[in-house]
Amino acid sequence: MNTMHTETTTERKKVIFSAIQPSGSVTLGNYLGALRNWVALQDDYDCIFALADLHTITVRQEPAKFRKNILEAYALLLACGIDPEKSPFFMQSHVSAHAELGWILDCYTQFGELSRMTQFKDKSQKHADNVNAGLFTYPSLMAADILLYQADLVPVGVDQKQHLELSRNIAERFNGIYSPTFTVPEGYIPKTGAKIMSLQDPTKKMSKSDENVNGCVYVLDTPDVIMRKFRRAVTDSDACIRYAEGKDGVNNLMGIYSCVTGKTYEEIEAEFEGKGYGDFKTAVGEAVIEHLKPIQERFHQYMSDKEYLAKCYNEGAEKAERIARKTLSKVMRKIGFVPRG
Ligand code: TYM
Repeated sequence: MNTMHTETTTERKKVIFSAIQPSGSVTLGNYLGALRNWVALQDDYDCIFALADLHTITVRQEPAKFRKNILEAYALLLACGIDPEKSPFFMQSHVSAHAELGWILDCYTQFGELSRMTQFKDKSQKHADNVNAGLFTYPSLMAADILLYQADLVPVGVDQKQHLELSRNIAERFNGIYSPTFTVPEGYIPKTGAKIMSLQDPTKKMSKSDENVNGCVYVLDTPDVIMRKFRRAVTDSDACIRYAEGKDGVNNLMGIYSCVTGKTYEEIEAEFEGKGYGDFKTAVGEAVIEHLKPIQERFHQYMSDKEYLAKCYNEGAEKAERIARKTLSKVMRKIGFVPRG
């Protein structure tokens, strides 16, 4: 992980913003690549987190399922350790400034830039029957999310790096046309866990859209299911637990094991010297189950208290809105819109 900045209380803390789409169950990739870091950063930074529900409708959603996914994702993030007292945590659709700045930034983003986004290319292939304009302009809405809060740092996994780069370009462009308006954000990508790969095809990122159900572990999977998925994980014929080029499956399992136990790769290699892949896979499965157990317990508690959830997301939206409105007014003034009197 990048160097942590320790600052005295008199200095302004750096601002962190990040978001996750409530597009189904949260994966182990989301957790290890992003959420775990959000939780760890809360004490040292001014953090703001969102559920990017506006982004999620770029792919068609069934209304009842969508609503359920949003609430579950909210509860699960609290269960992971997001503290809404410390870090405003809200739903993107509750703060309309996101959609408003999103539109404005669409007008400062080039067609060519959006056409180069690999996620757009992937998703438009996967959803060939619904290549909508939102799927295309998705990155300028993501830029709006980040820039509204003048974020210094954005903790994400590697797959969001290209979008983040575009957010920086949009911010710099706007600042150049008018005058400094937006903080130009930097990525905050973890050393381990930045790209958790599919357990069935370790050359692809772990994703809920994996065709093989055994490729993706969910934070809410039962212990039996987690163990089954790890036992079936694809490895290689080398039969040796070491981190090396070409050993994608084993490297991925070592990465996951390292994330949940805190052990280094050398320690893991020593621990499993002379042992086979069967023992190793079982150990990784057990460590993941142990790590996720308290999160799963807390998730069920939060889900049984909808009132508390509503209190958190309503308060989160209020706090976020105050900051977002300030930036949006500034942007609109600079462009030349006439303020409503
Ligand atoms: P999303 O919802 O796809 O993923 C949320 C976070 O999880 C990370 N991630 C992974 N990390 C490691 N290994 C994996 N296999 C893996 N899969 C996902 C992602 O990098 C991400 O950090 N566009 C964003 C949501 C978003 C956003 C934002 C993020 C909307 N606005 C503003 C940051 C700032 C997305 O779809 O992430």
